Amino acid sequence: MYMKKLVIALILLFAANNSFAIDIAPYKTGQKLNDKQAKELQQRYIKRDQQAWKEPAEVASIAKHKNAELINYGIKVLDKTVLTIGPNVSDKSRRYSGNSLNCSSCHLKGETQLPGTKYDAIPFTNVVNDYPQFRKRGMSIVSLSDRVNSCMTRSMGDGKAMPVDSREMLGILAYYDWLAEGIKKNSAMEGSGLPDVSFPARKADVASGGKLYQQFCFACHAQDGQGTKAADYDTSGNYTFPPLAGNDSFNNGAGMSRLKSASKFIHANMPLGASSKTPALTIDQAYDVAAYILSLPRENKNGRDKDFPNPNFRPDDYPVPEYFNGDKIALEKAKIGPYKNSTTMD
Ligand code: HEC
Ligand code: HEC
Repeated sequence: MYMKKLVIALILLFAANNSFAIDIAPYKTGQKLNDKQAKELQQRYIKRDQQAWKEPAEVASIAKHKNAELINYGIKVLDKTVLTIGPNVSDKSRRYSGNSLNCSSCHLKGETQLPGTKYDAIPFTNVVNDYPQFRKRGMSIVSLSDRVNSCMTRSMGDGKAMPVDSREMLGILAYYDWLAEGIKKNSAMEGSGLPDVSFPARKADVASGGKLYQQFCFACHAQDGQGTKAADYDTSGNYTFPPLAGNDSFNNGAGMSRLKSASKFIHANMPLGASSKTPALTIDQAYDVAAYILSLPRENKNGRDKDFPNPNFRPDDYPVPEYFNGDKIALEKAKIGPYKNSTTMD
């Protein structure tokens, strides 16, 4: 018995030392950083080597993996979020997510159909290398599970954070580990996050975005971005084409509620089938259509004014009225630009 415990402890220790992520010493996960420390740690991330994009291994190989069951559960949670942990699931203790989106509604599937494996569509392929990471939003270092939970409480509406030892979180992390098998440690990866683009040096045009919406998006996302409900919506809360606005969609504290992020996502990924290598909309068009979507009503995230507590580390596309002390012009600029072309991590 004692031997068994010792072996397990040694395996865990080995796993910890064998970690993919960058060494954040002398800082610790959870620690708040001052300006100087934050800049220093950001530099370490920016200076990492960048490896080439990698497609995931064959889906069939999961079945032979020692963690197969957990990995498959993680995939299910990410891809069928509404049906596994959505607000309508029968087991109330599993009602983590607060809306009708799936994680894979934004972390798109690549050719393998696995969630979060599409180039320039916020893939999960290299996330084990990218966390723990300093985030400006809390001026602190967050773990990968913290980062997952931050989408859970914003992108997924008013969702609840999943405990680190819940089967849901363990499944998601097991899947992320599986995705990273065979990739180089401590390096960044091409195609991660959203692509860098050059934003137009003008305000976004909501009216022109509305017209583009009718032409390019309406067929799937329907009138006013309300999405196309599945036949069993009333019991499941599920959609065939996800909503872009309203209570079933992401709230106004989510990354997608920021115009720069939404423009990049749309330019590189929408309408469905577009990619950053073969975009359907120019960045100018994506910028206007994104402004139109973000002008539609959506749920308010309470406490948004506490996000980005340090004004030196505040993104320029987060229109939180409290940041601007009644300066309507500055608030309007945060809402519809024009913006600086920052490439640093938000
Ligand atoms: C409405 C769209 C949306 C949904 C739904 C969503 N996310 Fe995200 N997620 C984002 C955006 C936007 C980012 C930040 C991308 C950026 O700025 O580079 C992000 C970032 C992340 C990251 C960090 C990725 C990185 O490259 O650093 C993780 C991990 C993550 N999300 C997990 C999840 C999980 C798990 C779910 C489901 C519980 C989920 N997300 C649902 C939009 C979404
Ligand atoms: C052919 C159908 C189709 C068209 C047309 C389309 N989308 Fe989508 N869109 C989808 C699907 C499907 C998803 C979710 C991905 C998945 O489930 O695999 C999605 C996801 C999204 C998301 C993230 C999830 C959410 O609900 O917020 C945004 C934002 C989005 N689309 C915007 C647009 C915009 C803007 C256009 C027009 C330029 C557009 N889409 C055109 C099918 C479409």
